[in-house]
Amino acid sequence: IPAAVFASGSGSNAEAIVEESHLPCTIELLVCDKPAAPVISRAKHWNIEVFVCDPKTFPNKQAYEQAILTKLREKQIEWIFLAGYMRLIGPTLLEAYPERILNIHPSLLPAFAGKDAIGQALTAGVKVSGVTIHFVDAGMDTGSIIAQEAVRVLETDTNQTLHQRIQAIEHRLYPETIRYILTERERNDSNATSVDQRIR
Ligand code: GRF
Repeated sequence: IPAAVFASGSGSNAEAIVEESHLPCTIELLVCDKPAAPVISRAKHWNIEVFVCDPKTFPNKQAYEQAILTKLREKQIEWIFLAGYMRLIGPTLLEAYPERILNIHPSLLPAFAGKDAIGQALTAGVKVSGVTIHFVDAGMDTGSIIAQEAVRVLETDTNQTLHQRIQAIEHRLYPETIRYILTERERNDSNATSVDQRIR
């Protein structure tokens, strides 16, 4: 099953997915919206096609997403995994990939949606935060939740230390959840069970 990863930043989650050898899908494309993102040089070692698509070079979001969609179709991509992709997905991609786009977020949603979830958690003074993997819908981090894992917030935590512990969980949980959801979806394809209802 051909799949794509979308990333805008460092790409450590993208790497964790690409390097996981026991997935039911093969990552065949990296889509990046930032021409200077570190993920692009990281991806040179992965042996997959990198598609850099800068939204600034398109008249609007629809044209931008249409260019991505053309590439996805060319590669026959069936699943999209967002891994630090810092943009809302619009109707062009949502309609082409219904319930086939996943995202990872560094908090226990619905708490601390949007940017800087780790900073938000530290400011709020919560004792527990975590990681969420969810289906993508039109909202900001609002799609139905597939998997979550808690991370204790320590008195001594800085943004950097909490980020490190959260990322260590992310790098295991994202590939694990991809394996789970794709296996379930393949198994249930014929009777159309709604897999997103099943909380792990
Ligand atoms: C991750 O913490 C993820 O939860 C969030 O963006 C960050 C991406 O980090 N959506 P990286 O680029 O994968 O290192």
